[in-house]
Amino acid sequence: MRTLILGLLFCAIAWVPQAHASEGGGFMRHVKVDVADKAALQRGARDFANYCMGCHSLSYVRYLQLEKPLGLSQDDIKKYLIFNGVKVGDPMVSSMPAALAAKWFGKAPPDLTDEVRVRGTDWLYTYLTGFYLDKARPTGVNNVVFPNVGMPDVVENLQGAQVPEYKEITAPDGTKEKVIVGLKQVSPGSMTPEQYHHWVRDIVTFLAWTAEPNKLEREHLGVWIVLLMILFSVVAYFLKKAYWEDIH
Ligand code: HEC
Repeated sequence: MRTLILGLLFCAIAWVPQAHASEGGGFMRHVKVDVADKAALQRGARDFANYCMGCHSLSYVRYLQLEKPLGLSQDDIKKYLIFNGVKVGDPMVSSMPAALAAKWFGKAPPDLTDEVRVRGTDWLYTYLTGFYLDKARPTGVNNVVFPNVGMPDVVENLQGAQVPEYKEITAPDGTKEKVIVGLKQVSPGSMTPEQYHHWVRDIVTFLAWTAEPNKLEREHLGVWIVLLMILFSVVAYFLKKAYWEDIH
């Protein structure tokens, strides 16, 4: 019986989902993404290709890799995702020369393949919904989770312009500082806040997939391994019982 209990305990431990690292403090919005949602992945890939790939690459992903997980044919990929004439077997690299981009924006736009693994889905969602007007910046905007960001607000026409809402707090050492506690829309975009939320969530879903393209397969395999372990524990229990019967 002990073998069985130990086996089940072990399975339970293996079952506990991995805790997500969360960034402490500050202004952070939360989003739920489902990398098994093919329609969301398709929309996310399309919007990424249209709005982000002018500057950012996904160098570790080849277009062809999108075929199965996103349920796209090679023709779909060529038609909806490739605008610079490269082949479907090529990596998703932006046509913008990095040196030129660095000159224009002060920083080269980084590769975003692993962005979700580094920053998390909540951070990325907050970043893409977190641009606000700031006259002090050369781009005219700042970002609530990325102070003094070099990226222009490429989504302003969709989301509309925002201004921050501040609250004064007193730090433990007695000094007062202003922190952003919210963002208020001051001019409308082409999307309603609800539509914009879905638009950003799709891009975050797509980038969650690029960061871990094999996650789904691994999870399926994990379920089978746990079931197999339970089966072995049961077999071990009966085997042990059978042996002890002979001895008694
Ligand atoms: C006009 C060029 C341009 C476009 C288009 C653009 N970006 Fe950026 N992006 C930049 C630059 C430049 C930076 C670097 C900013 C810095 O380090 O200050 C950046 C930074 C970022 C970062 C932060 C990376 C980090 O350091 O962790 C994310 C995330 C990001 N972009 C996502 C996107 C997404 C998603 C889109 C499409 C909706 C997009 N960007 C479109 C230029 C662009």
